[in-house]
Formats: sequence, C-alpha cells, structure tokens
Amino acid sequence: MNNKRIFITLIATLTLSSLFADTPLKDRWAHDFLIGVAVNARQAHTENAAEDSVISRHFNSLVPENAMKSEVIHPQQGIWNWTEADQFVDYATSKGAATIGHTLIWHSQLAPWFCKDSLGNLVSPDTLRARMKDHISTILHRYKGKIKGYDVVNEAIVEDGSFRHSPFFQILGWEYIPLAFQYAHEADPDAELYLNDYGQDNPARRASYLALIDSLQARGLRLDGIGMQTHIGMDYPLLDEYEKSLHAYASKGLKVMVTEMDLSALPTISRSADVAYTTEFKAKYDPYPNGLPDAVAAQWRSRIEAVLAILLRNAQYVDRVTFWGLSDADSWKNDYPMKGRTDYPLLFDRNLNIKIFNP
Ligand code: XIL
Repeated sequence: MNNKRIFITLIATLTLSSLFADTPLKDRWAHDFLIGVAVNARQAHTENAAEDSVISRHFNSLVPENAMKSEVIHPQQGIWNWTEADQFVDYATSKGAATIGHTLIWHSQLAPWFCKDSLGNLVSPDTLRARMKDHISTILHRYKGKIKGYDVVNEAIVEDGSFRHSPFFQILGWEYIPLAFQYAHEADPDAELYLNDYGQDNPARRASYLALIDSLQARGLRLDGIGMQTHIGMDYPLLDEYEKSLHAYASKGLKVMVTEMDLSALPTISRSADVAYTTEFKAKYDPYPNGLPDAVAAQWRSRIEAVLAILLRNAQYVDRVTFWGLSDADSWKNDYPMKGRTDYPLLFDRNLNIKIFNP
C-alpha cells in the first residue's frame, strides 16, 4: 500500500471505531438482546448526573443491586421498607426500561426473622409457607404492571449439583422452589418468572437445573427463563461448558438471561486460600491498585469480547444481558471475595469511559 492508501485506511478505521464507541449499546444490540445494568441506591436517586446519562444512553433493562432483597425490603416481620425499591422502580419506569425484580427467595441477605421463630429456631413448614406467600405476593402486588420479571429463587443448587441446604430447604425440602413459583404466579399472572444462579458452566449444576426445570414444567408451573449470573474471571469458566449450558437451557424452551455479568481482572482467589490478609497476600491478589497495565487491559478486553461473541452468536436464545454494576468504581468485586481490592470488572471504567470497542 502506498502512503495515501495507508492514511485513508487508518482514517476509515479510526472513524469506524469511534462510531462504534459512540453507538449506545442498546442500539448496537437492539436486534440481539436487552442490555441491562444493576443500579445501586445512589444511582436510583439520580445523585450523579454523569452516571445517570450513561445509564439512559446505553441500557434498556434495569435491576436493583440490593433494594429488593429481603433483608432490605422486609427487615422485620410485618415491617416493610419500600423506600429504596420504590425509588428504583420509579427510576426504571421513568427510563422506560425492562424492569427486573431481584430477588424473592434467597439464602443470602435474608431477613434474619424470615425462617426463624422468636427463639431463633427454624419455623414449621406451615409457618414458612405462609411467610413466603405473604412476602412474595406483597411485593408482586405492589409492582404489578411495573416489573417485567422476577428472579424468584436465587442460587438454589451448589457445586456438586445438590440442593443448597438453605433454611428454606431445611424446612420445606426442595418443595420450597415450586411453592415460590406458584405464589409468584398467583400474585401476578403477567410477570415473567426466573431461576437464577452462578457457576452455570459447572456440569453437575447444569444437570440439576435441567432436572429441576423438568419438574417445574411437569407441574405446569410458569417458568420463563433461567439466569446465568456470569460472575467470571480471567481463568474461569471454561467457555465451551458455559455455552453448553446456554444451549441446554434454551432446549427446554426457556429464555436464557445473563443476569449479573462481571469479569474480574484480578488473580482468582481460590476458595481454599487462607484469607489472612498479610501484606504479601494483599500484594499478590490486589496487584493493580493504581490502574490496570495495558497488557492486562487488552487481555480483559479480548476475554469479555469472547464472551460477548458467544452471546451474540446465540442471540436467538438470549433475551437479556445484564452487567452487575455500571462502572468499575461501583462493583461489588472490589470487596468480594476479598475486601478492599481494586478490580476492573465492568463495561465502564472509573471515569465512565466504555472499555470495549469491537464486540
Ligand atoms: C451483591 C451486591 O452487588 C453487593 O452490593 C452486596 O453487598 C452483596 O450482593 N449474586 C447475586 C447478587 O445474586 O445479588 C449479589 O449482589 C452478587 C452475587
């Protein structure tokens, strides 16, 4: 190529990539899937105009990061705290977003009273059924017509494929799952209802979800979709196992949703690691407190683009792709599984600049 041609090619490439960088994600993927983000309380209060405009510009589905979890919305028996959830629903409605409820029945961030009596013992099956029904139906009645779909049961199955021994399971066995779906459907027949979990690449968990889906469907319960949380890292999951699960769930006639995507850029802390935060440990696992080196940022970009490529080529099955937070500054990954790290897992950096160019 002569110099002039090189120059023209360069200008064309730069123009194309800046056009890409400028296109709102929701337009770029308009024919593929909804593109969502989890919003925190500050964002739902529109405290930061710059964040608000990035949310409006790029996303067409919103989910509350914490506002609807039982410990927040229903902290004591008969005592409801609607402030944050109402604020979120008003915010999402004002944006015309597909609004998602997260989450009705979950062992974590569980209101302490929910499964216990006044002495701290687990309640009877009858009592828990009544409490679940009241919790679920009160929320669904309040937001009828405003919330499109709910993560009804979150994280029900563990690594070896068995049911998580949550208090719900201990009291009711796995029947708490169909019951939750039944109560939700009775309260709002129009709401979509989802199962949601992490580690969806794990074959044991996948097999158990397939069996659970069969059982719910055999009973004629409404089940619209399955959420693949997609909290991932640079060395997990195996992407072909992840795609296998996506296909397996789609083959059941369910919508697949990527519900909580983030890609940690930091070294993976193995479950068995001794998390005594020695200085050496912290240095090893929090290596980029002052910014991500270019080489690591490039690796991060190519991995997120590989995941997006999987989702785009399966767009016919994927209904929604939601990121678990707006910018790296907000991400729960800065404090999980170890507190006080500086992670870079989301689509927007700490200055709200987009980090992908060519998905
Ligand atoms: C996380 C929130 O992001 C944090 O702010 C909170 O402290 C803990 O929970 N799976 C889920 C989400 O379903 O609700 C969790 O969100 C992340 C893991």
